[in-house]
Amino acid sequence: MKQDIPLTAWVNGRFIPLNVATVHIEDRGFQFADGVYEVIACFSGIFLDLEAHLKRLQRSCDAIAITIPHTQNELESLIRQAYVLNPFDHAMVYVQVTRGVAPRSHLVKEPLQATLVITVRELPEPTEDKLVQGASGITRADLRWKRCDIKSIALLASVLGKQEAESQGVDETFWLDEQDHVLEGCATNCFAIINQKLITHPLDHQVLGGITRQMLLRLAHSHGLEVEERPWKLSEAGLTECMMTSTTNAVMPVCHLNGKAIGNGVPGPVSMQLRQWMLDEFEALKK
Ligand code: PDD
Repeated sequence: MKQDIPLTAWVNGRFIPLNVATVHIEDRGFQFADGVYEVIACFSGIFLDLEAHLKRLQRSCDAIAITIPHTQNELESLIRQAYVLNPFDHAMVYVQVTRGVAPRSHLVKEPLQATLVITVRELPEPTEDKLVQGASGITRADLRWKRCDIKSIALLASVLGKQEAESQGVDETFWLDEQDHVLEGCATNCFAIINQKLITHPLDHQVLGGITRQMLLRLAHSHGLEVEERPWKLSEAGLTECMMTSTTNAVMPVCHLNGKAIGNGVPGPVSMQLRQWMLDEFEALKK
């Protein structure tokens, strides 16, 4: 059901129409990108791994010493209410917490009342074409900061990476470390199939602990596909497929990188099987 009523947002203590929702110009999120966020998928009212997203939000807040202005139960209830007010069949709920409002100064001497914003938008579906052809990308030296495990709203490098991808006619920019290991995309985790094993960079400060990443690893394990979390390169012998994961993409095969085909240049059997297992899991949740 796609709603015709205007969208509603939660901003600091109340639900109001999205088109008039505002935060203060001295909010530290606006002035310093001093905040963190989550993007959570919801299918027909069923949230995907809501608990894991709430846990990661708490982890991000703890890492930068922001206190969420609600208990976990209250926050969960607000997220659910936000969905009810914006009930897309396939929704993505955006939750942002910033340190709050104060006269501009890098240093914060006293704890502030954190700003909480929740918005809901329709979750875009991949086009049929994209699924047939697979996604494409470019690789670039990682120019982000050294705490990519925190889901920070400071996303300038990712914005530039996405803009460059778009200008090259591809879908994603994947970041490489100094030895050319593939870390992750601007808004996705990245995987390869190498000698029939599912390979992805291990969790450290260079990558976000994606919720979809975790789900993919669990699905692979449970179906008997061998998994290795280790640094990997595009030049490795035996690499036949690549894929990316995120709340907004589920699993998406990546078939061209830097203008070169990966494997046969079309979605490979393992990626498509993993995507199907994930979609089956989404369907099972609805029942
Ligand atoms: N981004 N890596 C980065 C850098 C990301 O920004 C994201 C998600 C992921 C995948 O995480 P998850 O599976 O939990 O969605 C990995 C969100 C979707 C965004 O910024 O819109």
